[in-house]
Amino acid sequence: MSLSAPPPASQSSADPRTFVRTALDLGDVLLHPWGRGTAEPRALVDGLIAAASDPLIALWNPLATADRGEALAWLESRDEGWDRGVSASFAALTATEGALLGSVTLRWVDRADGLAMIGYWTLPNARGRGVATRATSAVTSWAFRTADARRIEIAHAVGNEASCRVAHRCGYLAEGTLRDSHRFGDGAYHDEHLHARLATDPEPTDAAGE
Ligand SMILES: CC(C)(COP(=O)(O)OP(=O)(O)OC[C@H]1O[C@@H](n2cnc3c(N)ncnc32)[C@H](O)[C@@H]1OP(=O)(O)O)[C@@H](O)C(=O)NCCC(=O)NCCS
Repeated sequence: MSLSAPPPASQSSADPRTFVRTALDLGDVLLHPWGRGTAEPRALVDGLIAAASDPLIALWNPLATADRGEALAWLESRDEGWDRGVSASFAALTATEGALLGSVTLRWVDRADGLAMIGYWTLPNARGRGVATRATSAVTSWAFRTADARRIEIAHAVGNEASCRVAHRCGYLAEGTLRDSHRFGDGAYHDEHLHARLATDPEPTDAAGE
């Protein structure tokens, strides 16, 4: 693959709750930091544009990457998140070809308190193979291990059963239902299930591929 390696990880900030650019190697899948460097190869930007038009992503995780200009602005925003240590956004790529499979993004909700939130999507042709589960699990462990995250949350629309399965498989316990808590891509407010995992929780035993 022709992506350049991310800059070497270095914890330069005094704040341990800083996400530091790194790549996570899952064997057949590579999690690579999104950013300006991922504007090439062109196929990755095309993948972002395709993701924005997928009906499920447009409904449950709308992306402002409808064309090349928007996709480049989105990549710019990913770099800003990494630069400031406030969000960690990874492209999930095939290890062999560097083809885009999906994305996982973690961001601080309350950095001082160690509270973060994680979200994910996969392209239609990558679904049902455990990619979201494995990528989310890996980013979760990385955040607990390297960024002193204390609690990470997942919120998904009650109707989004696939996302609920990913949360369960990654060890995020269901904590309840939030009523009319988020406006989704259909313009309507939906109830959401709140899931969370604590740094002190045991590793899940059934995460796909683990
Ligand atoms: C949710 C999403 C990320 C799952 O991606 P994925 O790579 O297919 O997920 P995985 O293969 O790791 O596992 C998915 C789990 O959901 C289940 N699943 C998949 N599609 C499903 C569906 N339509 N209904 C119910 N369960 C489903 C799978 O069986 C699997 O559960 P299991 O391991 O217990 O068998 C993907 O469907 C997607 O991108 N959806 C649109 C965006 C989105 O919803 N993002 C999350 C917002 S909170």
